Amino acid sequence: MECFKQILLFFLFACSVVNLVSSERSTYIVHMDKSFMPKPFSSHQHWYSSILDSLKSTSPNSHQENPPILLYTYDTVLHGFSALLSRAELEALKKLLGLVSAYSDKVATLDTTHSCEFLSLNPFTGLWPASEYGKDVIVGVMDTGVWPESLSYKDDGMTEIPSRWKGGCDGGFDFNSSLCNKKLIGAKYFNKGVLAANPNNTKKMYSARDTDGHGTHTSSTVGGNSVNNTSFFGYALGTARGVAPRARLAIYKVIFKEWSYASDVLAGNVGTRLGYLHNGIPWVLTVAAASMDRWFAGSLTLGNGLTITGWSLFPARAFVHNSALIYSKTIAACNSTELLSRVSFGTVICDTSESFYSQIDYVSQSNVQAAIFISSYYTYEDSHFNYPGVIISPDEGAKVINYALKGKNPTATIKFQQTFVGTTTAPVVAGYTSRGPSPSYPGILKPDVMAPGTLVLASWIPNDAVSQIGQNIGLSNDFNLISGTSMACPHGAGIAALLKGAHPGWSPAAIRSAMVTTANPFDNTGNPIKDIGFNYAVATPISMGAGEVDPNSALDPGLIYNATAQDYINLLCSMNYTQMQILTIKRSNYNCSNQSSDLNYPSFIVLYTNGTSTKSVLTKKFERVVTNVGDGVATYKAKVTAPKGSDVSVYPETLVFGQKYDQQTYSLRIYYTADQNQTVTFGSVIWVEENGKHTVRSPIVVAPMIPVW
Ligand SMILES: *[C@@H]1O[C@H](CO)[C@@H](O)[C@H](O)[C@H]1NC(C)=O
Ligand SMILES: *[C@@H]1O[C@H](CO)[C@@H](O)[C@H](O)[C@H]1NC(C)=O
Ligand SMILES: *[C@@H]1O[C@H](CO)[C@@H](O)[C@H](O)[C@H]1NC(C)=O
Ligand SMILES: *[C@@H]1O[C@H](CO)[C@@H](O)[C@H](O)[C@H]1NC(C)=O
Ligand SMILES: *[C@@H]1O[C@H](CO)[C@@H](O)[C@H](O)[C@H]1NC(C)=O
Ligand SMILES: *[C@@H]1O[C@H](CO)[C@@H](O)[C@H](O)[C@H]1NC(C)=O
Ligand SMILES: *[C@@H]1O[C@H](CO)[C@@H](O)[C@H](O)[C@H]1NC(C)=O
Ligand SMILES: *[C@@H]1O[C@H](CO)[C@@H](O)[C@H](O)[C@H]1NC(C)=O
Ligand SMILES: *[C@@H]1O[C@H](CO)[C@@H](O)[C@H](O)[C@H]1NC(C)=O
Ligand SMILES: *[C@@H]1O[C@H](CO)[C@@H](O)[C@H](O)[C@H]1NC(C)=O
Ligand SMILES: *[C@@H]1O[C@H](CO)[C@@H](O)[C@H](O)[C@H]1NC(C)=O
Repeated sequence: MECFKQILLFFLFACSVVNLVSSERSTYIVHMDKSFMPKPFSSHQHWYSSILDSLKSTSPNSHQENPPILLYTYDTVLHGFSALLSRAELEALKKLLGLVSAYSDKVATLDTTHSCEFLSLNPFTGLWPASEYGKDVIVGVMDTGVWPESLSYKDDGMTEIPSRWKGGCDGGFDFNSSLCNKKLIGAKYFNKGVLAANPNNTKKMYSARDTDGHGTHTSSTVGGNSVNNTSFFGYALGTARGVAPRARLAIYKVIFKEWSYASDVLAGNVGTRLGYLHNGIPWVLTVAAASMDRWFAGSLTLGNGLTITGWSLFPARAFVHNSALIYSKTIAACNSTELLSRVSFGTVICDTSESFYSQIDYVSQSNVQAAIFISSYYTYEDSHFNYPGVIISPDEGAKVINYALKGKNPTATIKFQQTFVGTTTAPVVAGYTSRGPSPSYPGILKPDVMAPGTLVLASWIPNDAVSQIGQNIGLSNDFNLISGTSMACPHGAGIAALLKGAHPGWSPAAIRSAMVTTANPFDNTGNPIKDIGFNYAVATPISMGAGEVDPNSALDPGLIYNATAQDYINLLCSMNYTQMQILTIKRSNYNCSNQSSDLNYPSFIVLYTNGTSTKSVLTKKFERVVTNVGDGVATYKAKVTAPKGSDVSVYPETLVFGQKYDQQTYSLRIYYTADQNQTVTFGSVIWVEENGKHTVRSPIVVAPMIPVW
């Protein structure tokens, strides 16, 4: 959400130390205070280009054939421009009246379909029908571009483009603007940063076409149209669709394989406001990644009739039928081609603590027909599976080994391309998802919520190998099955788009609050969600925020924690940013008279430092304002679960709302001590409506300042 502002703040932190390259030119982003624009200038572009002209004549570099170059001017989210400047030119610029700040352009990192069903989105009740599937919400996606021919961007069933849309579809290399339609309503590329940094430019840099696949995957996850009968080589077979299948997509290619520069990302200031770079900034939605209730399998049947469902994503219907089953202690290490060359047929059992990837690599260089991998710690988060085989647990492995050693002519049969849904336990926090607290705003609990991010099927570019057989055979496909927080974020963004469609008047903070306070901390067995990253221990809000996002509940959250732009300014003021830093974000006059680090956020976190005495009890007080978005009169009572070792009090304990949009204030105090073991403890405050209709839950976390994870 509000990706542009989000990016600005990212720079504030990432770029507080300006790196200057002495004589060579590099790209700088320059923030200006527009109130200093001299009257004669008719526009900001005019002012900025005249500034650059003046640098030409004053700088010692003026004799060079390369003058300073203006790349982009910015006027929506920030005032200023980006330009290719030498150090001397930068110094001259710094003396100008109206300059707020200037910093060097930074590399923007890529953060980076069954999921809709798993999230209980359905045509009959809840958020899909209420939002008409996100009809007419415009989602701007800043990523690696788009493969416009993908079936996910077909505009079947889409109505006319809303007249408020003012963006365009830029033609470019291998990208005819006629490829845009009523689904893919915009496509632009911002390449000046990458061109300035990369003189070896290619035609491919002049196009919004995705040459990577990532942007096609994320945008089709947010708002792709339905595509029947898709799969990943037989796995995950079904209809693929975005979370908001009737939303419009406006694509901004800002990440080029060739490298990515912040000035290009900043230039994306058109269109509607949903994006998903990952970080802990207070005005964005931060989404952690989790698994789904889906299992990709090969079923293994032994000659004695025992059938075991193993994990597999081998991308073809391999023929493994009554294959001789071979187990030998020496070969079972599966760690050398020489050893494996002793086996020229049959199915080997690999039983070792070696990594699965290294084993499958050795096996794929051998003449073995198939393999059974016994592994206790494989986490099922990756689609790499280039040889016929299955992964089974040590318990099951013991039975298979026993049969292989004692059975008469032991054999194995494996059927591939099997998909099971509704499997337990799900969701589980992914191993790779990043954990809070956010280093830049440690006082705000991040991530906010969790969404499916593991092995998500969505569109991909067709001219890329997405899977492999053996060592040399690459396989391409129009859909890819990949994992990442980059896959979880478009689920969050898609749900936000649906909520915006259902409640056009809600602010981004209200939408986020609805998602946080209705998120589910329990998995599909009714137990607290677990965390793969901590060996399946109970997950803390530092890993998953309030829990798995629940879109249908978020439609009707009862109460919301709202925030205004001024609230964010008050937070920045409390963090002792300089006037220039805040002006860089705010652009216009601001007033720090009400500074407060206590943002009206739908969650609570206190951090203790390790040095603090473990005996003395510390107190932290929070104030919150909640707005009734339910219908009419409502009474809520607080139900508090304190983090282990802490006490929590809430005042008042009952909130009475006379009508819709009434606001009430409450305070929450946490009494806590520092824990030398640096553990994270957590609880919650739940506002329960008297009639039981709404429960509004906020996590409460006590965590060490210096994370141990
Ligand atoms: C773009 O597509 C339109 C319609 O298909 C076609 O008439 C036009 O020639 C194409 N332009 C380019 C530059 O290929
Ligand atoms: C440009 O290409 C040349 C030749 O391939 C290479 O030596 C040089 O490092 C490249 N420059 C950049 C900035 O990539
Ligand atoms: C996709 O499948 C649905 C239901 O089976 C069907 O109604 C629809 O026409 C199909 N769409 C296409 C493009 O084949
Ligand atoms: C789906 O695709 C498969 C293989 O491409 C085909 O055999 C099958 O008939 C298709 N099913 C539908 C419902 O279109
Ligand atoms: C393979 O694994 C076995 C058993 O763990 C070990 O003894 C051997 O040294 C390993 N060989 C190689 C080449 O790593
Ligand atoms: C939240 O605050 C914003 C900004 O002040 C306001 O526009 C909005 O109406 C408020 N309420 C909701 C439910 O978003
Ligand atoms: C900000 O400055 C004040 C006054 O110097 C100080 O008390 C406070 O701890 C500082 N806050 C932060 C977050 O550094
Ligand atoms: C800031 O606002 C307060 C009232 O909220 C006012 O008294 C003060 O003069 C303002 N300061 C500036 C610099 O505008
Ligand atoms: C600061 O708070 C006071 C009292 O609530 C309010 O009147 C004033 O408008 C606020 N000033 C700003 C800049 O938010
Ligand atoms: C925290 O402090 C205790 C006591 O001073 C020390 O033993 C422990 O190693 C510290 N832990 C960390 C993670 O710094
Ligand atoms: C800290 O860890 C130690 C060793 O695991 C344990 O004995 C002790 O009870 C723990 N302390 C707390 C406060 O949990």
